Amino acid sequence: METFGKILLICDDASYSVYIKEQILNSGVSSVSVEPTDQAGLLSLRQGSYDLVFIKYGTDTDTSLLISELKKIDPDCVMVILFETGQEEKIGNLMDLGIYDALSRPVNIERLKFIIEKGVKLHALLLANRKFSQGLKESNQSLEKQNMLLAKRIEDATTNLSRLYEDLRTTYMRTIKVLAQAIDARDHYTHSHSEDVARIAIAIANYLKLPAKEIEILRQACELHDLGKIGIEDSILLKTSALTPLEWEQIRKHPTIGAQILEPLTFLNGVVDLIRQHHEHYDGSGYPEGRKGNDILLGARIIHVADAYEAMRSARSYRKVPLSKEEAVLEIKRNSGTQFDPKIVDAFLKIVDNL
Ligand SMILES: [Fe+2]
Ligand SMILES: [Fe+2]
Repeated sequence: METFGKILLICDDASYSVYIKEQILNSGVSSVSVEPTDQAGLLSLRQGSYDLVFIKYGTDTDTSLLISELKKIDPDCVMVILFETGQEEKIGNLMDLGIYDALSRPVNIERLKFIIEKGVKLHALLLANRKFSQGLKESNQSLEKQNMLLAKRIEDATTNLSRLYEDLRTTYMRTIKVLAQAIDARDHYTHSHSEDVARIAIAIANYLKLPAKEIEILRQACELHDLGKIGIEDSILLKTSALTPLEWEQIRKHPTIGAQILEPLTFLNGVVDLIRQHHEHYDGSGYPEGRKGNDILLGARIIHVADAYEAMRSARSYRKVPLSKEEAVLEIKRNSGTQFDPKIVDAFLKIVDNL
């Protein structure tokens, strides 16, 4: 006969142990180990694995404690309680602790066989399930570890990229600024024009309590506002006599040319539109688009006042002696509401004495 399963029997009644062991072996079980005390039974389970554990109720004082100790050693332990007639109620209480089945004395041999067969199969299933769960847990842990590694690598790469981007941005800005300064310097009268415009515009913006981020964009726009003059010939740019209509047409292109040069640099997003609009007039008579009033960006309206004042206060190829401060201020006031936004002129008048 083919045998199966290993069984542990914890029973303090020697003659009953012999009888039960024999009946179990007759059911086709490979081996039965008998232990006379709870402690011996626990030790046995710790040292070997069993498909089923039979416990005679009341072998030692507390069977429920024995059950929980056995579960601690092997959570998949399948337990069957052997009890005397009259102990049914006590056994009923034990069922909640996770025992598999219970058999009363005298033992029904057919039922014993049935319990052993089913119990051994159940234990095999529980073991397979545990192995599967353990495998799943390990794969999850390994996946989690890989995820963490990946996240760390992405984080490092992102940090490096942001640093690179920041470096690139700084280098770009420096290059463009040098270019803008070179354009200012083409006409020796205007070598610090852009920086001076920035200083005045920032004073106005601070007076108007603009947010720091907008002021920074305004500063960059001022530093680059005449970049488009790169596309205008010296013969026009440095001309000392009055410009012809055709030459004026060339000059009027510089805000658009500047914006087009800078447009591909996405980090200068806000700056580009300010440059494009820095010669628009409040009444719509400016260039290149003839925008009017609040349709012109606030920053561009500020640059326009700062630019005009700075130009009047400097010597130019066409006007060797600059206007006095009073004359220039008067000119700005005279054009308030037409060329300039009156609100910006008011702010300018508040700060002009501190420039
Ligand atoms: Fe300009
Ligand atoms: Fe300018």
